[in-house]
Amino acid sequence: MTFFLLLVTLTVCAASPQDLSGKMFTFPKETNTARVILTPKPIQELSAVTVCHRSFTDLKRDHILFSLATQSNSNAFMIFWDEGNKEMEPHIRDLKREYRGQDYKPNMWHSVCTTWDSSSGLVQLWFDGQPSIRKYITSEAIRGSPMIIIGQEQDSHGGGFDLKQCFVGMMSDVHMWDYTLSPCEMQKYVDDLNFTPGNLLNWSAMEFQIIDKVLIEDKLMTCH
Ligand SMILES: *[C@@H]1O[C@H](CO)[C@@H](O)[C@H](O)[C@H]1NC(C)=O
Repeated sequence: MTFFLLLVTLTVCAASPQDLSGKMFTFPKETNTARVILTPKPIQELSAVTVCHRSFTDLKRDHILFSLATQSNSNAFMIFWDEGNKEMEPHIRDLKREYRGQDYKPNMWHSVCTTWDSSSGLVQLWFDGQPSIRKYITSEAIRGSPMIIIGQEQDSHGGGFDLKQCFVGMMSDVHMWDYTLSPCEMQKYVDDLNFTPGNLLNWSAMEFQIIDKVLIEDKLMTCH
């Protein structure tokens, strides 16, 4: 097991950052294996976070959008769609808050940004640029080495995937910051204008590893 982990670490470290501007990851089928491991800038502790991503799907069931696990919390920072309750659910340190009322339509791009700051303990969701109410979740920092995966939901550090929670569709513009974005920065991200890229995950300089069937494709899919 240790040897395996070492091997994985070496493979991930060997990858050099790639500019994914104008690109997307396509997750073309329902599996409990296909995923992308994103390698952030080294972090041991996170006391504030913003994560943004754009996604496109027609799934009519629960699914994962962003999964960050540590050794002690498999849902250390996770964004999950709960189809039964029609809720977008940010999880932080295995705690969950529910947000209802988003117009999460199938077959179109949606941008989802989530901010959290341990000094206030408040989490907030920005769905297609619309802010939600700010809810208290936790004041404890996220500690330990993060494993960030898109396409699958982690029930353990780097594993424990569930076929019925996997993501099928397209995902793009994944960024992560170690601070909360201002509303104006948020708007720039939503409009794809000159926003400051993530300092922990930067779509324009991404270190990642694809496992199984995930494709990198151009984001433009319609005639201009
Ligand atoms: C993100 O990557 C781009 C391209 O390499 C680089 O110019 C930019 O400085 C990076 N931004 C951050 C905040 O790391």
